[in-house]
Amino acid sequence: MTIINKNLLSLVCTVFLMSTVQSLDNGLAKTPPMGWMSWERFRCITDCDKYPDECISERLFMEMADIIVNEGYLAAGYEYVNIDDCWTEMERENGKIVPDKKRFPHGVKYLSDYIHSKGLKFGTYLDYGTKTCAGYPGTLGFEATDAQSLADWEVDFIKLDGCNIDTSVMVDGYIEFGKMMNKTGRPIMYSCSWPAYFEYYRRPTSIPDYDILVETCNLWRNYVDIDDSYESVLFIADYFANNSDRLIPYAGPGHWNDPDTLLLGNFGLSYEQSKAQLAIWAILAAPFLLSTDLRTITPEIKELILNREIIAIDQDKLGIQGKRLSALNRIETWIRPVSPIVNNEYSYAVAFVSRRTDGHGYAFEFSLEKLGLTNLLGYEVKDLFDSKRESFKITLGQSLEDRVNPTGANFYKLTPITNRARR
Ligand SMILES: *[C@@H]1O[C@H](CO)[C@@H](O)[C@H](O)[C@H]1NC(C)=O
Repeated sequence: MTIINKNLLSLVCTVFLMSTVQSLDNGLAKTPPMGWMSWERFRCITDCDKYPDECISERLFMEMADIIVNEGYLAAGYEYVNIDDCWTEMERENGKIVPDKKRFPHGVKYLSDYIHSKGLKFGTYLDYGTKTCAGYPGTLGFEATDAQSLADWEVDFIKLDGCNIDTSVMVDGYIEFGKMMNKTGRPIMYSCSWPAYFEYYRRPTSIPDYDILVETCNLWRNYVDIDDSYESVLFIADYFANNSDRLIPYAGPGHWNDPDTLLLGNFGLSYEQSKAQLAIWAILAAPFLLSTDLRTITPEIKELILNREIIAIDQDKLGIQGKRLSALNRIETWIRPVSPIVNNEYSYAVAFVSRRTDGHGYAFEFSLEKLGLTNLLGYEVKDLFDSKRESFKITLGQSLEDRVNPTGANFYKLTPITNRARR
């Protein structure tokens, strides 16, 4: 219902405020962006003598780009290669941001060209404040120069962070920077960070105007930075579950809530926990941005990351963000309406996520009534984590049982059954 109301509302706004409301409308992010980003795994490692394989350098991004193309990630949809903080010199030169000369010896355009030559898209990072979060030059006072630099470097994605600037001037600043990027004529996917500063980092916390976010940004970080632990995944999942009614209306083609990067392939999540993050993030219509060392990833985790059916849920063209429906015995039910719509009924992605730690798989009840689903002839159910398992049917009044492993998740797609075949 909220979705419909919101669409009506924006229709009304379009009709009545056509001349004053400026929409971002850059044609980007029709589905949540997919790719790779340096921050969660590689942070601000800048000592290339000590950590040559891990430091934020052109070599790191070129090696990741090679693997993304050569090992099937691009074919699965992961197309952005994004730099995060700690990539520039400590001072501007002639007013311009310049990359660290030792770590990016050939300059930004060289890296951008390399990434584009592989059929990938290139993203980078700035901060709207006086300095970035790690203390590198900020964009405040240099907005037009930096927007032009992004265009000159042929950047496709910008994360504009919000450290070292007062929340009271952030919103206008982000809007202004968006306009300056538009003026360059280059369509650049715009990732905004101001909600995270309003809702998490600044005291007292407050709720930003999400209508402005939709008009200004393609995606926005709502809440805290993710860390390499299941605890961090669940903390962020809790925020999205607690605030789903408020946040869901603002997600859709062109504009997405962003719970931060996927941790898969790193140190903190077990295999089961990796399934849980992937399922929750797909339900949330989250950007699928990896932040891991693709050179050392295990085959099992790689298979999860490349799971086409789960990617299809995340990238569903209806773009409706899902939510946590219920929690019973520390087993949570998450649900998201997806395509195809059959006889006016949605299909659904349904995840059962366990917060249990008692040794064996925990049995849970699986019924349409509990999911609030009503299609008279029931649904065809596909197990998204077990491609070999045959799909099965569930009808109204039926109660099936399945088991979910400790701290893991089961993930299904339910498609409405029609009587068309029988006629
Ligand atoms: C979510 O809500 C629960 C229950 O009110 C609360 O204990 C928890 O701290 C909330 N978590 C977040 C991250 O908002």
